[in-house]
Amino acid sequence: MEFRDVVRRRRMVRNYDPDRPVSPEVRDRILAHAVRAPSAGFSQGWGFLVLENPEDRDRFWRAATPETDVWQQWLVNMRHAPLIVVAHSNKSVYLDRYAQPDKGWTDRDEDRWPVPYWHIDTGMASLLMLLTAVDEGLGACFFGIPPEQIPGYRAEFGVPDEFQPIGAVSVGYRAPDHRSGSLRRGHRPMGDVVRFGNWTRAER
Ligand SMILES: Cc1cc2nc3c(=O)[nH]c(=O)nc-3n(C[C@H](O)[C@H](O)[C@H](O)COP(=O)(O)O)c2cc1C
Repeated sequence: MEFRDVVRRRRMVRNYDPDRPVSPEVRDRILAHAVRAPSAGFSQGWGFLVLENPEDRDRFWRAATPETDVWQQWLVNMRHAPLIVVAHSNKSVYLDRYAQPDKGWTDRDEDRWPVPYWHIDTGMASLLMLLTAVDEGLGACFFGIPPEQIPGYRAEFGVPDEFQPIGAVSVGYRAPDHRSGSLRRGHRPMGDVVRFGNWTRAER
């Protein structure tokens, strides 16, 4: 598939064919592409938890989603996903990396970081997983784990404290689904979000 088509066709898919697993080859390509993402200082401070057998996926959904009607309704189709990859960022890897001689921030001070690159890099890796799924003819969805579910998720899967789950990517062969209501907002016009040369236009 042409790269421009991969980008254009990507959308969050929230229902999957429950009878079509993701092959190990495709799963491995998704993960191999994730770790090709750029990272600050080449820190690569990410970690991915792969869940593919039905028991593990079930444990994930139980731990990571609230009991509310809205979530449980959302889950009906999401549960069909044969593959879930939970993406985690590890801040301490970045603080250590930037305290190395070629970077020289010996104090590990978090105030030096204009934005949390650990989350950014893991987000970039997640986008590569989403795009790879499209390139392989599959669908995927990135979604968050609500904060109140995170301690239970960590305990269930033995995730160490230094790893923060930034979200999860469900992957599978597409089945009919409901488009998100958020899409009614439409894409913002380029003129609203892109500036050329200067942010503010001088008043004439
Ligand atoms: C950081 C982030 C968090 C998201 N969280 C959720 C989520 O919890 N549940 C969900 O169904 N979709 C989630 N989405 C998907 C967005 O709703 C979706 O990307 C947006 O509506 C645009 O639709 P599209 O990606 O299909 O073009 C998330 C997307 C991002 C980037």
